[in-house]
Amino acid sequence: MAMDSAQHRLFSEDGVTVEPVILVRGLRTAFGDHVVHENLDLIVFPGEIMVLVGGSGSGKTVLLRQIIGLAQPAAGTVRVLGQSLPDLTPAERRRLSRRWGMLFQAGALFSALSVFDNIALPLRELRTVPEDMVRDVVMCRLAMVGLSARDADKMPSDLSGGMIKRVALARALSLDPELLFLDEPTAGLDPLRSDEFVELVRSLHRQLRFTVVMVTHDLDTLIALASRVAVLADKRVVVCDTLPEVLKFEHPFINTFFLGERGRRALGDLAPKGLHNGKP
Ligand SMILES: Nc1ncnc2c1ncn2[C@@H]1O[C@H](COP(=O)(O)OP(=O)(O)OP(=O)(O)O)[C@@H](O)[C@H]1O
Ligand SMILES: [Mg+2]
Repeated sequence: MAMDSAQHRLFSEDGVTVEPVILVRGLRTAFGDHVVHENLDLIVFPGEIMVLVGGSGSGKTVLLRQIIGLAQPAAGTVRVLGQSLPDLTPAERRRLSRRWGMLFQAGALFSALSVFDNIALPLRELRTVPEDMVRDVVMCRLAMVGLSARDADKMPSDLSGGMIKRVALARALSLDPELLFLDEPTAGLDPLRSDEFVELVRSLHRQLRFTVVMVTHDLDTLIALASRVAVLADKRVVVCDTLPEVLKFEHPFINTFFLGERGRRALGDLAPKGLHNGKP
């Protein structure tokens, strides 16, 4: 692929133009003296499931927040869905933000709102959707994530962890997004619920063809879903490629994360042979 930096487009070998869904260039993030990102680049293509991994505190959540304009980088550029947020008016930003959905790592649901009202929130914020249509969309989204109409009146405190993730996913899908952000969607779920959630995301992705950016520490989730993997370490994306290529990349984080005991068990046949913990 060749990059045309003026046009923010990429050309594949057969000359087809691909506009990235997300294009981050030279991003810097600092909180006081604490530099979180330095010269970070990331490209996400339409329809892929990009999985972002990195140590705790490496800046994965902050990066997602910057991509969707909830936080501003100290330097660098972020283009999402072909637009640069700082160039837009507040009304244009609002319109653009309706084209993505986000499942947040913490506080996935509003605890004072019922399941119904949580899922309805993004639709009601539009102020243009009649209430009977809101009801239809909410019921449709509940069904999409495998919940029933009976769950609509429940409060978040009455739900299991797996159900909360499903409701949060239903809310992220409420405006039929082209781009879905999932920050640790399976954290805290038991292996069975986690597998169910992965299967749900896989089948929705197959049907709806949206682009996904997902942060996860869970190797089984990563292996099941990732089109490509971006590794955040040393304040930047050190490698971004398919999983087999990432596994060939020499980096202490990759050795620990993928090639320790736990990683090898999850990787099975994917684990490179003749290596243990990155050493021959
Ligand atoms: N608003 C803020 N003010 C000051 N520091 C912040 C702020 N937001 C994040 N940080 C710091 O930035 C760093 C990156 O945080 P972030 O939440 O992105 O990490 P993460 O990679 O998502 O970690 P985890 O895997 O634990 O979720 C952390 O050191 C965090 O303390
Ligand atoms: Mg985080």
